[in-house]
Amino acid sequence: MNDIGPTPLEARDAAEVHALIVANRAHLDRWLRWSASIRTLADVEAMIARFQRKLAAADGFHCGIRVGGALAGGVVCWYINRENRNAEVGYWLGADFTGRGLATEAARWAVARLFTAERLHRIELQCAVRNAASRAVARRLGFQEEGLRRESHWITDRFVDHVIYGILDREWTA
Ligand SMILES: CC(C)(COP(=O)(O)OP(=O)(O)OC[C@H]1O[C@@H](n2cnc3c(N)ncnc32)[C@H](O)[C@@H]1OP(=O)(O)O)[C@@H](O)C(=O)NCCC(=O)NCCS
Repeated sequence: MNDIGPTPLEARDAAEVHALIVANRAHLDRWLRWSASIRTLADVEAMIARFQRKLAAADGFHCGIRVGGALAGGVVCWYINRENRNAEVGYWLGADFTGRGLATEAARWAVARLFTAERLHRIELQCAVRNAASRAVARRLGFQEEGLRRESHWITDRFVDHVIYGILDREWTA
């Protein structure tokens, strides 16, 4: 998918992340729960720092997806619940980088890492009901549709229903 696989975002990536979000404002704010609140470079730096703390605490990550060195998007693990051995992942791409399997491959990498390195039992994904592209990624990876969470997330300017997807470790290895 890219030269070295997704790698954790660092402070030096902030300007590139900011530029990609700004250039894809409408594309991302339509479906992401966090992009609308990212306005300034300082917002991006704070977001990256928050995920670096999560990574250090083995409680999640935000990795950049790169193509030929250029930032294409990111793959996120929002948290790792050790008690129940589960986690939630997400992904995003600049519009110019869609349609080539990058999100599917990055999510596949994240899920594999969480099942193997972190020894988790279950991974979740939540997609807005009308986010067909994101739901297709979940299906491509073998996630099962488990239910509907009514108005579960505030997306930019409205509450949006989300479909919850899940996959278990035994389903992944099968
Ligand atoms: C969700 C999002 C990342 C999906 O992007 P995407 O490009 O459709 O997903 P992928 O990168 O996995 O690419 C899949 C497409 O590439 C094609 N493709 C080409 N090579 C492929 C490969 N090796 N593997 C998988 N798909 C491949 C697929 O057929 C599919 O094309 P299609 O849309 O015409 O069916 C993107 O729409 C996005 O960033 N949206 C805004 C943010 C967002 O919604 N995030 C998710 C929140 S839940």
